[in-house]
Amino acid sequence: MTAIAATHTLPKAELHLHIEGTLEPELILELAARNHIVLPHPTLEGLRAQYEFTDLQSFLDLYYANMAVLVTEADFTDMTRAYLRRAQAAGVRHAEIMFDPQAHLARGVPLTTTVAGITAALAGSEAEFGITTGLIAAFLRDESEDSALDVLERLLAMAAPIIGIGLDSAEVGNPPSKFIRLFRRAKEAGLHLVAHAGEEGPPSYVWGALDLLGAERIDHGIRSVEDAVLITRLAAEQVPLTVCPLSNVRLRAVDTLAAHPLPHMLDAGLNVCVNSDDPAYFGGYAGRNLDAVAEAFGFGADTLERLAGNSIRSSFAAAERKAELLAELATWRAGQGYPSPK
Ligand code: HPA
Ligand code: ZN
Repeated sequence: MTAIAATHTLPKAELHLHIEGTLEPELILELAARNHIVLPHPTLEGLRAQYEFTDLQSFLDLYYANMAVLVTEADFTDMTRAYLRRAQAAGVRHAEIMFDPQAHLARGVPLTTTVAGITAALAGSEAEFGITTGLIAAFLRDESEDSALDVLERLLAMAAPIIGIGLDSAEVGNPPSKFIRLFRRAKEAGLHLVAHAGEEGPPSYVWGALDLLGAERIDHGIRSVEDAVLITRLAAEQVPLTVCPLSNVRLRAVDTLAAHPLPHMLDAGLNVCVNSDDPAYFGGYAGRNLDAVAEAFGFGADTLERLAGNSIRSSFAAAERKAELLAELATWRAGQGYPSPK
């Protein structure tokens, strides 16, 4: 068994995943029919033809438009279960899943529908798919901080089972400094803090996410490589960076996979892991992302083990669960044989 073929069996945690970005075209059409929604591109071919992106915004336009098919609790449950099934096939053993509550509220979908639908699927995840989960409410940085605070208060009031908050959507022009009160409130409520930064935005947004927001993990963070002082700090503090290689290629954050800074980040001693972001839109789930970088950069079992180990250690899973998954990873590594290819 080669290391590359083993990436689907490699036990891993997925820490950067937007559940709405797991809506596969087939499910979009199925839900549209179920809810009597007429889509602008009502066929598979027509829909698939839209999946060419020039930047983050061109993707977000389609991502938000396709959410129109999510109406009932069952829709959210079906989407989440479909993700869990695919994640299981990709070797994901623990998943921390973001959702965009404001995007659904803006379409008139009550918060209770969104939260209940997703959590119904998560409730059965460990028993059915062997995947432990956590739910993260991501706030849209191109909306106001007051809107985010209002939704956070509503989530807290309804005791939504969230483990943390995140910050996503259009990055450039919406710096971390816009959301200081939101993150302070979430911390006060005992929630974990993560934020997208340095995907399209400059390294200063990564500094801001760390120093102004207190982010425990940075989603993406690839533009950190432009700032040597920042790299030194990220390495020293072992700040987790949830890198999404296929996303970066499809959204043109990098020109090609070969030009992706992941090898440089690993060489610099950063705590990076590999994630799928919006797998239905970017060409694959966690296993496919690992396969792609393993192939592009010739990563062997050692590097794959390091990436998977980082994902497990950087998760918000309970200590016992992390230990269990690290033991599984050691078993996987033993099965790869020595010496490792790289
Ligand atoms: N970046 C920012 N916001 C997002 C993304 C992303 O890749 N996916 C869903 N919302
Ligand atoms: Zn993302």
